[in-house]
Amino acid sequence: MVIDGQVKAVIGRALMAKMWVEKHRPQTVDDIRGQPAVIGRLKAYAEQGSFPHLLFAGPPGTGKTTAAIALTRDVFQDSFRDNILEMNASDERGLDSIRNKVKQFAKTSPLGGATFKVIFLDEADALTSDAQGALRRIMEQYSETCRFILSCNYSSKVIEPIQSRCAVFRFRPLANDQIAKQISDISGSEGVTLDDDAKEAIINVSQGDLRKAITALQVAASLDKHVTRALIYETTATAPPEQLHDFLLACKRDGFHPARRRLQTILDKFGLAGTDFINQLHRAMYDTEFLEEIQKLELTEMLAQVDFRLVEGGGEALQLDAMCSNICRLLSD
Ligand SMILES: Nc1ncnc2c1ncn2[C@@H]1O[C@H](COP(=O)(O)OP(=O)(O)OP(=O)(O)O)[C@@H](O)[C@H]1O
Ligand SMILES: [Mg+2]
Repeated sequence: MVIDGQVKAVIGRALMAKMWVEKHRPQTVDDIRGQPAVIGRLKAYAEQGSFPHLLFAGPPGTGKTTAAIALTRDVFQDSFRDNILEMNASDERGLDSIRNKVKQFAKTSPLGGATFKVIFLDEADALTSDAQGALRRIMEQYSETCRFILSCNYSSKVIEPIQSRCAVFRFRPLANDQIAKQISDISGSEGVTLDDDAKEAIINVSQGDLRKAITALQVAASLDKHVTRALIYETTATAPPEQLHDFLLACKRDGFHPARRRLQTILDKFGLAGTDFINQLHRAMYDTEFLEEIQKLELTEMLAQVDFRLVEGGGEALQLDAMCSNICRLLSD
């Protein structure tokens, strides 16, 4: 398809240009969107000029790294670069390298009148439990001179003793209106015309992940400064909800072969893998008016099974055909 080649070239260009997620990353805690349960407390820390060890947990693209850096910047102002050590735990899983770096960093006194330094350990849930055991001692050893900010997607993967040494903050997927405001602001400052239904499409594809939303906007805008709904769906490997509704309707009314052809068309047109299709169908299903509640429940159960089989390595074509035939059976009048 022409669009595929075009999109690849554009994504390449977009990556070469400054990423909007970085360019528009809030610099101070005040500018972070949403997260009302978190931001008030972080502002209080910024005003006090001090904070305990912190653990930020929550889904991708919701502001954890942004908040860690913004808070440090708010506390240390101009000397913030000298007082923060950033480490990505998924690159440096070996505790020895962390220990050495921490020691090295902690040895020199804080600059610019600060009383402590900050060690920001991103993706801390990637550390093995042995490494976490050692980290817990390091946190104690250096707590006089260093505060740790840990960020992770799953707090359950961080051992209890570390959690109990930290104030834990839970980040939530961003609300639709917060995503809408941020992408409208970015569109305004980047000279992009964003249609209202394109904004809705970005909200739909991003599912509360603001990084995904901004990236979708940038990729589409590099193709055309006038961003439309169709452009968003074409460039994000997402099928518009009505296509998924039509697939379900075909299962209900037309039977297996037409429904299967429709499924194939959707996969080809939007470049979806089987698991993408299943996840998107699952989301779209809830707004489908012609489905009864019990059918939605059964469909959910069925999609979960197919998803599991695909992840376990089941053949995609066969699994999707089986799914299609099961949906036809379930929905046929
Ligand atoms: N709450 C927010 N307010 C404003 N911008 C945000 C927010 N959350 C995310 N962003 C935007 O998305 C980008 C990525 O966010 P960030 O790096 O903070 O995500 P994260 O929560 O650390 O995700 P991950 O779990 O993948 O590390 C930021 O550079 C910023 O542009
Ligand atoms: Mg992060």
